[in-house]
Amino acid sequence: METSSKIARSLLNLIPRKVRRFFAEFLGLVEVSKRLDKLEDEMVKKNDIGELIERIKLLEEATQPLSKKRSQQRWIAAPPDGGLTWGRQVSGDDFIKKVISYNVLNPKSTLLEIGPGYGRLLRSLLEQKASFRRYTGVDISIENIEYLKETFIDSRISFLLEDFENTALEDTFDIAISSLTFKHLYPSFEKMLSTISQHLVRGGWIFFDLIEGTPRAYFEDDRITFIRHYSREEIDKILRRTDFYIVAYDQVVHDDEHTRLLVVAKKTKRMVSRKH
Ligand SMILES: C[S@@+](CC[C@H](N)C(=O)[O-])C[C@H]1O[C@@H](n2cnc3c(N)ncnc32)[C@H](O)[C@@H]1O
Repeated sequence: METSSKIARSLLNLIPRKVRRFFAEFLGLVEVSKRLDKLEDEMVKKNDIGELIERIKLLEEATQPLSKKRSQQRWIAAPPDGGLTWGRQVSGDDFIKKVISYNVLNPKSTLLEIGPGYGRLLRSLLEQKASFRRYTGVDISIENIEYLKETFIDSRISFLLEDFENTALEDTFDIAISSLTFKHLYPSFEKMLSTISQHLVRGGWIFFDLIEGTPRAYFEDDRITFIRHYSREEIDKILRRTDFYIVAYDQVVHDDEHTRLLVVAKKTKRMVSRKH
């Protein structure tokens, strides 16, 4: 009995009450937090660790929609400039060179880009004279979309103002690309990948970059920029759950200071039957 009480207390100490209260205030969840504190006291008295863990999970779930909204605030309001890429405009050349090196592009290819920002990948695609039949760029920022529509005038190219995680288009695509976007998706890029999967043909390709490292997730000091680091093990699991398989873990060099893991994957040819 005494040991389980100690475990319960050390579990609580993992997230000190002060820290939780700070986040609760920030999220406008003070009442929820107070109730949780009271419940915890009762449960520690009763040594009910299982119940305590369940309650913490419930609180996390309750705050998810708010955190999701918060993680999108910055991007919805972002203008199409270097603020999207470490404070200065960066070339998309290396990303596009990598895509071309997998021999996936041809004059019939249909391309989907998630989060084109100020269009650096598209610019490189055009400058490198890569073959494609149709390109659709989907972004959540109205300013980005207006800028992209004015800048890239080409009958093969179109743009949509959408949160792609919650989009259902009639079109399907052969290839999806996305740079510097998946690391910002809350709570992970799984929902996005699942929506992309629904819009890709069987055997279709996806190229996206991530920060590789010991798994961790946090909001930066501005409180709206969400960042998540992934291990390859985690990425593999998400790919499998969304009907993709890994082709290669490659690298993309954005500039002298920023090299990222490039995930190259394909959608499975057949529906995978999942045992529940
Ligand atoms: C860090 S910026 C990167 C821009 C661009 N891909 C680049 O590499 O320069 C992230 C981009 O993703 C867009 N974005 C974020 N969440 C999105 C979503 N759910 N659906 C569509 N676009 C999104 C943002 O508006 C922004 O343009």
